[in-house]
Amino acid sequence: MKFFIDTANLNDIREAAELGILDGVTTNPSLMAKEGISGQSNIEKHYKAICEIVPGDVSAEVIATDFKGMVEEGKRLAELADNIVVKVPMIKEGVKAISHFTEIGIPTNCTLVFSAAQAILAAKAGATYVSPFIGRIDDTNWDGMKLIKHIAEIYAIQGYETEILAASIRSSRQISDAARNGADVVTCPLSSIMGMFNHPLTDIGLEKFLADYRKLNG
Ligand code: E4P
Repeated sequence: MKFFIDTANLNDIREAAELGILDGVTTNPSLMAKEGISGQSNIEKHYKAICEIVPGDVSAEVIATDFKGMVEEGKRLAELADNIVVKVPMIKEGVKAISHFTEIGIPTNCTLVFSAAQAILAAKAGATYVSPFIGRIDDTNWDGMKLIKHIAEIYAIQGYETEILAASIRSSRQISDAARNGADVVTCPLSSIMGMFNHPLTDIGLEKFLADYRKLNG
């Protein structure tokens, strides 16, 4: 399973990249706004900076909601760096745009996916990634992990090549659950990645090993 970090914060991206386990980055307009990045040229500069840190796929989201606008914006984003993946919302015009990007060889991430039916449309359009939003589904009292499982089953039966990118992850536990349910990729904040290290027995065990070593070696 691939690991993406879900942020536009350059320090967090660097810290995750230094672990040597980072495969890519996802951003969205809210995450860019959180970093105070505004204006076309600053936004583009910021995407370039992210792409310089991480050689893997970096999702950059279009703002346009019509086919023509999405295509123009997506092409411009794709020109920023070789590892840009154009992120397109799961709407009618979005599916049309993804089909077009597929035809011309631009990789895409179909975002804001909340049902297996939407995931089928994304795969039919040839999306490189489909992003079901686990946490937001759980917030509405549905089961986000079950959606990952259903999409994985459908894609396996139908032979779709689109990769399932579990998004809107809020805990370390959800990362292993997504892996178990068939996600190809998870994207999550740095805090969830760091939470994966935690186990009290590791800390207790290490303390004992070091104490025993110090007993004889000073
Ligand atoms: C994924 O690509 C999205 O940017 C992200 O995971 C959304 O997460 P949120 O529900 O925490 O905003």
